[in-house]
Amino acid sequence: MTQQVGTIIATEDTPTTEDFSFVLEERVKKEQFVEFDTEEGRAIARVAAVRKTNQFFMNAESVSESRKNGVKLRDHFPTDDREHLVAEGKILGVYNDDGLVQRPSFPPSPGTEVHEAETDRLRDFLGLAGDDGIKIGDVQFQDLEASLDLTKLFQKHMAILAQSGAGKSYLASVMIEELLDREPAEGQLGVVAIDPHGEYAGFVKDSEYGDRVEVYNGEDIKISVSSLTAGKLAKYFSDVTSPQKREIKKILDDLDKEKRQGKGVYGLEDIKERVDEADMPTKTKQIWQDRLNRMQYMNLFKKYDNPSLDRIDMGKMIVLDLSDVIQYKKKQIITAYFADKLFRARMRSEIPPFFFLVEEAHNFAPENVSSSDAIARGPIQRIAREGRKFHASLGLISQRPVGLSTTALSQCNTHVILRVTNPNDLDRIKQSAEGITSDVIRSIPGLRTGECIIVGEAVDYPAFVSVRERRSEEFETGKALKEIAQQYHDEEQLDDDDIEAFM
Ligand SMILES: Nc1ncnc2c1ncn2[C@@H]1O[C@H](COP(=O)(O)OP(=O)(O)OP(=O)(O)O)[C@@H](O)[C@H]1O
Ligand SMILES: [Mg+2]
Repeated sequence: MTQQVGTIIATEDTPTTEDFSFVLEERVKKEQFVEFDTEEGRAIARVAAVRKTNQFFMNAESVSESRKNGVKLRDHFPTDDREHLVAEGKILGVYNDDGLVQRPSFPPSPGTEVHEAETDRLRDFLGLAGDDGIKIGDVQFQDLEASLDLTKLFQKHMAILAQSGAGKSYLASVMIEELLDREPAEGQLGVVAIDPHGEYAGFVKDSEYGDRVEVYNGEDIKISVSSLTAGKLAKYFSDVTSPQKREIKKILDDLDKEKRQGKGVYGLEDIKERVDEADMPTKTKQIWQDRLNRMQYMNLFKKYDNPSLDRIDMGKMIVLDLSDVIQYKKKQIITAYFADKLFRARMRSEIPPFFFLVEEAHNFAPENVSSSDAIARGPIQRIAREGRKFHASLGLISQRPVGLSTTALSQCNTHVILRVTNPNDLDRIKQSAEGITSDVIRSIPGLRTGECIIVGEAVDYPAFVSVRERRSEEFETGKALKEIAQQYHDEEQLDDDDIEAFM
């Protein structure tokens, strides 16, 4: 039996089958889970509020009267002895011999002892996994590891939402560690991360994880020209008209045919040559020449894909580090191309189940932005809609849920929410997160860095979690301005000292 924390009392309107109050003998925290016996079995409940009472201060008239008369109640009565902590609880279900019954039919009796929730029961109630899960931290106020079931978390998709600095990337890094640490027998996934700020690139330098991570930056990343179709080009250059598309298709078809006949893989130069020689309207020719020059300038389109992604390994991660890519369009094209390539390869079972993590998802799958400025949105939405059938799991990270594609967000069956204070973003989360209550929404602005709420598929009931410390080294970009400024100051100081020592 776990520690007793209090005793149920009778108030004017409780206990009912849903609500009860209990006077505290031990401290409990709001959102802690407790349990007690009922006629129907062992009830599990959540602490919804904790308040203080004192019978000496309950009557407004007598408090105000004594104050007027200059009498301090404290000096005359044992007021401190009458101060009590009372918690309000919400009954969530009852465990009987058959298991969990969601709705109890009788209220508990006043006088019933209330205990801390038992770890195993709570794990079952929250739908958490044991040692073989994705262990992201601890359930707050409980002696229980927040271990998420791999299938429930990655079978479908996940969104990690919070304002800047609340700990999204840190949490994602913890999840990545967990995925990379799994043994084949526990079920592994391949991880591919779109990393606009180079936050995951640091994994490759880590002594523990480095050997399981490959990082490609803007200089390295290439797209094979011969795999581009006229349709893809039209998407990358939104202003392509149908006649223009037809002209380029003829050229690409010819080149493809020659490739099949053994003439080798063609590059951008080959297309340019064909366009120069082609018999097409001058205007169209100029437009394609201009577009192909722009493509060349991007330094992205070559003969072969890099990374090839023809195979991704389970238990390993590939990071597309876009932090050195300045052109917005180039970032979009890279993300669109590789998202599409991964998904197609997965549909044909050419690569293992994977987790595709997209940082700054509101930039790659934005809401209310014309498709010409949202090149990556289509491929991301496609994985969101169809990915689960093929075990292609999407992880969308965003500090602007309002700006994130509704189609993509609504397919995220698990929401991991860290601190959010912006009312519009809170509204968005309320609409998109399945099973989130107003009560939970109210708690979101008060979360501290590294504290999150998990709702949806991965848990059977919303869980407040303190994210564990990461085992890998945190990369520079995460450092606070103050820290960077101090570091700069220290280094300058060092330089000065060196010079002095030298002189
Ligand atoms: N669980 C945690 N434990 C300890 N420190 C944490 C935790 N979560 C976050 N932090 C700290 O808070 C800082 C901000 O976290 P992080 O970079 O993950 O925020 P973010 O939500 O990704 O922000 P942004 O939207 O700006 O990318 C990190 O540098 C990290 O040191
Ligand atoms: Mg971040």
